[in-house]
Amino acid sequence: MIETLTEFAKDVRDGLSKDNKTLPSRYFYDEIGDDLFVKIMDTPEYYLTDSEMEIFTDRTDELVKLVNFDRKFDLIELGAGDGTKTIHLLKALPKSNFKYIPVDISSNALDLLSQRMKKAMPDLEIETRNLEYFSAIKTTESENPKLVLFLGSSLGNMLDDRAKEFLSQLAKCLRKGDKVLLGLDLKKSADIILPAYNDAQGFTREFNLNLLRRINEELEADFDLSKFEHQPVYDETKGIALSYLRSTEDQTVNISCLGCTFSFAEGEVIHTEISRKYDRPLVDQLIESTDLEIEAWITDSKEYFADIILEKH
Ligand code: AVI
Repeated sequence: MIETLTEFAKDVRDGLSKDNKTLPSRYFYDEIGDDLFVKIMDTPEYYLTDSEMEIFTDRTDELVKLVNFDRKFDLIELGAGDGTKTIHLLKALPKSNFKYIPVDISSNALDLLSQRMKKAMPDLEIETRNLEYFSAIKTTESENPKLVLFLGSSLGNMLDDRAKEFLSQLAKCLRKGDKVLLGLDLKKSADIILPAYNDAQGFTREFNLNLLRRINEELEADFDLSKFEHQPVYDETKGIALSYLRSTEDQTVNISCLGCTFSFAEGEVIHTEISRKYDRPLVDQLIESTDLEIEAWITDSKEYFADIILEKH
């Protein structure tokens, strides 16, 4: 049986077998989860999108000066999504000076993005890559310099050690002079951050519970979604937002595909997501052992969010 388990099944089994139960947040993003995330980004509470959008719309000239090269370059976007922020940068860069290479593990998302971009920018040179991030960068074998975009504070969904490892792996895929445009959410008070992870319309709650629905559907489980509640927490001193699913009663859940049951005590939680918030000393620490150096640090007017330009030395 073990041999036939998917990666998802193994991760669910391993996460729920721990004393402090966990489920990896990357499994939020199936078709329903993608849809819910778009709805979250549109909520008034989820300031991250508007803040980064402000940088891309109001500070475009500055961004262009910082990221443009004096010769043709490859603009690689990791986890490109729908490209709504990036398009402002693409439109402001000299047309024939770059090739846009969006990377995503969802081929569906890439097809949609490609259609939208071609419509909005008929002259855009675009080449989609349906690959893992680092494979996509490594297989971009042109002699052109590279600019890698990693926006939306997606780095924040990694624990610090993993984020460090990610940045050091990224640096190893780059050559001297290549650049990274990294979007990071900044540390701030709980009264701003907590509502962003607990919107009044309940999309974030649904997004979190979607993990259990997905396990029910894909692994033949019998989670009763009404017996788990969404619990966001923010540690203001550390700058770490965490999401949990809290069992509202003692219960047992059967996961047929795993051939096992899991018990939950009343009040017991499953940790589902970390959303790290950053400041300068933390970023310095994360890039300390890489060849990346901070060239510029651009924030929105409220200083909620930063787009940082890193250069490989
Ligand atoms: C994708 N990522 C940066 C989002 C975040 O803010 O951590 C995912 C998310 N989770 C709940 N709301 C949004």
